[in-house]
Amino acid sequence: MRARVPESSADSGDNDAAARATITVHPDFVRGTVDPRLFGTFVEHLGRCVYGGIYEPEHATADAEGFRGDVGELTRELGVTLVRYPGGNFVSGYRWEDGVGPVDQRPSRVDLAWRSIEPNHVGTDEFLGWARRQNVQPMMAINLGSRGLQSAANLVEYTNVSGGTAWSDLRRSNGVAEPHGVKLWCLGNEMDGPWQTGQKTASEYGAIAAEAAKAMRAVDPSIELVACGSSGRDMPTFGAWESTVLERTYDLVDYVSLHAYYEQFGDDRASFLASGAALEGFIEDVVATADAVKGKLHSKKTINLSLDEWNVWYLSRFSMGTRELSHAPELLEDTYSTLDAVVVGDLLVSMLKHADRVRIGCQAQLVNVIAPIRTQRGGAAWRQTTFFPFAETAAHHGSQVLHATVSAPQTETARHGPVSDLNAVVTASAIDEDRTSIAAFLVNRGRRPLVVDLRHAGFDNLRVLDFRSIEADDVGARTDEASARAAMPRPGAKPVTADAVTTLQLPPESWSVLRAEAVDST
Ligand code: AHR
Repeated sequence: MRARVPESSADSGDNDAAARATITVHPDFVRGTVDPRLFGTFVEHLGRCVYGGIYEPEHATADAEGFRGDVGELTRELGVTLVRYPGGNFVSGYRWEDGVGPVDQRPSRVDLAWRSIEPNHVGTDEFLGWARRQNVQPMMAINLGSRGLQSAANLVEYTNVSGGTAWSDLRRSNGVAEPHGVKLWCLGNEMDGPWQTGQKTASEYGAIAAEAAKAMRAVDPSIELVACGSSGRDMPTFGAWESTVLERTYDLVDYVSLHAYYEQFGDDRASFLASGAALEGFIEDVVATADAVKGKLHSKKTINLSLDEWNVWYLSRFSMGTRELSHAPELLEDTYSTLDAVVVGDLLVSMLKHADRVRIGCQAQLVNVIAPIRTQRGGAAWRQTTFFPFAETAAHHGSQVLHATVSAPQTETARHGPVSDLNAVVTASAIDEDRTSIAAFLVNRGRRPLVVDLRHAGFDNLRVLDFRSIEADDVGARTDEASARAAMPRPGAKPVTADAVTTLQLPPESWSVLRAEAVDST
């Protein structure tokens, strides 16, 4: 699957020696600021994400509201800033009123999306209470599949109006005196997909999204809204969908969504390792389409992107099958390898590189369902391999992304064409007037070690604090916490700094983080 192609500006060398690459940055060349909401996640009523995931009243660590303390602790350690809820495909058949009020009076329903039984023990107030206790921003989705603008406006009234109206007074009588103040709302979910309850054409969706946006904003003008873009880059309607939807909603929404999942097909490791490059192509296409609509409408407003579902997902192995209806079945419980961890790190690098336009990101999902955290019913919660690159990036990224010129060998991939062996992003944050903290995240997608010269004129006096890597191996899925720890970043060869160049050694098929501090000596 992997054939080397020569590249003029970098030394591609022979196949055994290390390849070489360069990255050039300068403190004056800033690409954009990083929105903390880029480090979001997703909790859907799907499989064991809610029931047996964040919520398990019988669990030894459960709090007074029935939410697992061990999962809450790992969520904090992961560094999550925002949580999208309640779906996903689930939301397109959801009646939110079923999930408020006395729990013992709530109905059980058939969840149309995942053929499960939904008992509604967790609903809007329980989730928003958990989000508040976890100190994460909620991002709520409304149902534009089986329902419409009235139920959406009612939900905003329930969550955001302080009192004195029917829905806000219902919330108060349900024991929640203060409004939840939900600022960020998704106008439906993946409405372009044939699998979606109430799938729509772009014109139909654009019309209902615009009307829902008006009604929701009439209730609370301070909210931010996300219009549904495409559920994948390979949807036949991609591009035309965004164009039509944004023409109908441009002045009424703030973001357009995109969803992106990647997996390894067969033995094609090279294409899988290039997932970040595919994501960047997708992001750039959505930006181009949104900006084309901006031009066509003679608008001064810019629509940014909400990557509100992304991850490694072995979707091709999933089938709904003919299971019996049941509550919280084990669905989509992918178990990850060290290679998957490197690819998750690669996707995060690509998101950060586009932080000027991608303002929101939600790794799908938080627990059990294609997730960095897994649980055993009544037992332990544990970190999958993919936990580590997310936690490290969320903890160490700076507030600004620098323009970086990268010169590296390329590899020809079957699915994405020629792709750079090096994916890298460099971020910076001022500590005080004289000191800047630098964090670089780097992926060597190639099979050879990569020696990288990071040229940082302007950050002349640089001191490396830490350099660690995750290396992919051939072991495959890591089925428990002990073996998943193989993806914990480990110290690599010591970086060497001289004449405003820091030289790093990246192992083959690896993700790395460099942390440094620069002191202005002028
Ligand atoms: O995250 C799993 C599913 O993927 C979501 O429900 C849906 O929006 C997407 O297709």
